[in-house]
Amino acid sequence: MTSSAPTPTPSPGSAEPRTVLITGGAGGIGQSIARAFIAAGDRAILADRDAAAVTAAAPELGAEALALDITDAAAVAAALNDLAERGGVDVLVNNAGILSVHGAVTELEPDAYRSILEVNVIGTFNMIQAFARHRIAAGGGGAIVNISSIGGRQPTPGMGAYESSKAAVDSVTRWAAIELAAHGIRVNAVAPGPVLTPMLEMGMPEGSAAREAWSSRIPLGDLAKTTDIAPSVVFLASTDAGHITGVSLAVDGGQLLT
Ligand SMILES: NC(=O)c1ccc[n+]([C@@H]2O[C@H](COP(=O)([O-])OP(=O)(O)OC[C@H]3O[C@@H](n4cnc5c(N)ncnc54)[C@H](O)[C@@H]3O)[C@@H](O)[C@H]2O)c1
Repeated sequence: MTSSAPTPTPSPGSAEPRTVLITGGAGGIGQSIARAFIAAGDRAILADRDAAAVTAAAPELGAEALALDITDAAAVAAALNDLAERGGVDVLVNNAGILSVHGAVTELEPDAYRSILEVNVIGTFNMIQAFARHRIAAGGGGAIVNISSIGGRQPTPGMGAYESSKAAVDSVTRWAAIELAAHGIRVNAVAPGPVLTPMLEMGMPEGSAAREAWSSRIPLGDLAKTTDIAPSVVFLASTDAGHITGVSLAVDGGQLLT
């Protein structure tokens, strides 16, 4: 933990501060999730394959940085073993993901599809497996929150590779939830609609045709801010959600209603 980390205080619904491991922690949504846990009094570890970005982002948030590629199962297992020796991890947020692979079903190269499945599905699985083994060895308990997408339930032309990977994330969430319940480990997902991360905002500034096209699909108006997503993640990881497991909570401004 860096010296700038806040003094931990119990977060709402939690008996004591927890250690929260957030993958893809250098990205827009990951940083926002880290900020929300830290504000609630928890400790955050940001894991990302972009070592330079996560090393730069973590100290500003009062978090710890960890360079980790979630597709490397051996590296993931070693990281969780190391963290177990340093006090353990209570909450895993599987937020790392690739969003940028697009292509029509008639056009997409199989290798491009494979690359997205490797990170979004197999990477998420690697993290769940290593975390679950760690928690079971520690006597059970803990929570996992996977970051899915409503795209897993509602198609947009050209985005099917990404969307089907997120449908798999919802399914893996239910798979892990039913098997890990006996160990007191809850597994849920948060499924955002489009979120205005700094990167997305650059690509579709307010007033642009692309922004309008997305906004017009959302009954509550504009795209989500990252701060619209993070509180649901904190809630699902808290003891206030102690009787909730296996759900994928849409945070989408009502887009799934349309
Ligand atoms: N931005 C949106 O509109 C939106 C909507 C719905 C869901 N999501 C989901 O939210 C999550 C975060 O998205 P974001 O918008 O913040 O994206 P982002 O690109 O800003 O962040 C993703 C982070 O994941 C990291 N990453 C990628 N592959 C990795 C790997 N193999 N190992 C470790 N880290 C890896 C990247 O380096 C990056 O820092 C993703 O799972 C995404 O699918 C995003």
